[in-house]
Amino acid sequence: MSEESIDLKNAKVLMVDDTPANIDLLHKILSNQGYKLSFATSGEKALKIIYRTPPNLILLDVMMPGMDGFEVCRILKSQKETQDIPVIFMTALTDTVDKVKGFNVGAVDYITKPIQSEELLARVSTHLKLQAHVIELKKRNLESEQARFAAESASRAKSSFLANMSHELRTPLNAIIGYTDLVQEEASDLGYETIITDLTKIQTAAKQLLGIISDVLDITKIEADKMETNPSEFDVSHLIKDVITVIRPSLMDGKHFLKVNCPPEIGTFYTDAIKVQQILFNLLNNAVKFTRQGTITLTVNRSAQEMTFQVADTGIGIPANKLSIIFQPFTQADSSHTREFGGTGLGLTICKHYCDMMEGHITVESEVGKGSKFTVRLPFQNATQPISSK
Ligand SMILES: Nc1ncnc2c1ncn2[C@@H]1O[C@H](COP(=O)(O)OP(=O)(O)OP(=O)(O)O)[C@@H](O)[C@H]1O
Ligand SMILES: [Mg+2]
Repeated sequence: MSEESIDLKNAKVLMVDDTPANIDLLHKILSNQGYKLSFATSGEKALKIIYRTPPNLILLDVMMPGMDGFEVCRILKSQKETQDIPVIFMTALTDTVDKVKGFNVGAVDYITKPIQSEELLARVSTHLKLQAHVIELKKRNLESEQARFAAESASRAKSSFLANMSHELRTPLNAIIGYTDLVQEEASDLGYETIITDLTKIQTAAKQLLGIISDVLDITKIEADKMETNPSEFDVSHLIKDVITVIRPSLMDGKHFLKVNCPPEIGTFYTDAIKVQQILFNLLNNAVKFTRQGTITLTVNRSAQEMTFQVADTGIGIPANKLSIIFQPFTQADSSHTREFGGTGLGLTICKHYCDMMEGHITVESEVGKGSKFTVRLPFQNATQPISSK
């Protein structure tokens, strides 16, 4: 809201003074400004007017018979409906104690009598503008609060919908995969080789779909803050062996060579083993997918503070300007690759979230045409847990 856009015309100013001559003077000074002026000659009358028609600003005399200005102000500031109305005290007192008392009971400013017209005009206009800003700010805060609430509810609804859908989709898919297995065995017993090839295709497609659904479910859980870590102590060599067993079939095309550097004395590690497995599986999967022909190297190292897992390939590489976006959901370095290699762009997002959850981090170095190297560093999470190196 700019200064110029504030229209003070019709701003309601209430003048409170027990001396009619003072009200007259205020009226004369302010009457040309376009404000809607009203007046009261006592604290009690002022409160009645304020409750009936709340003004935008109050000019309040301090010394009045009956309820004095301090008391009026205290009452106004104690009530939700009136506490935001700015009050300017008018005082003949030069005593600092009274000015301080005015501020303590909630005044925004004071003006000393005899009243100087320039000063009065400046102070009234300044506080009316300030109040307009405050009202606008509150309105915007309320709007953004409402928008945030609406967005959060929509996001919660989306998350629970996706969680339910993912479950509903997984169950029949698992049945398809399981029954295809059974039919494959029967077809093999009966010697129906052509059917076996088709059944294998069905199963591959179903497994791909299951992978995508699992990724969507994982992202949904992460975004809904429902993903938990389950740390335990595990043998790193065993975990690497398991990962290689899963990835091995995709390396059987004769175009990829896998090199594993994992010292036998690597020992145990205390963190969420399933998440480490999934990170490595996603990284190796990418390395295979984006390397038409070449070497993939998995290297594991331990230092005093952390365990490092590195997946390097000699594949197509990633352009430098895409390195920062590939960890964002549904983002791929090159959309033409999506058509060629498939994928949803969730693998690295999940890796990054998992690394964050385990208080580690993932980095990438890459050169187009030469290859990529992803490095995952995971700290030893819990010093009280036994972390042994054999
Ligand atoms: N080893 C790699 N070599 C070259 N590009 C890579 C490599 N790993 C990731 N990328 C780029 O980063 C993008 C994002 O990777 P991410 O694993 O998140 O998605 P995806 O592999 O396309 O799909 P998904 O993993 O969900 O099946 C990829 O589409 C690719 O452009
Ligand atoms: Mg991937």
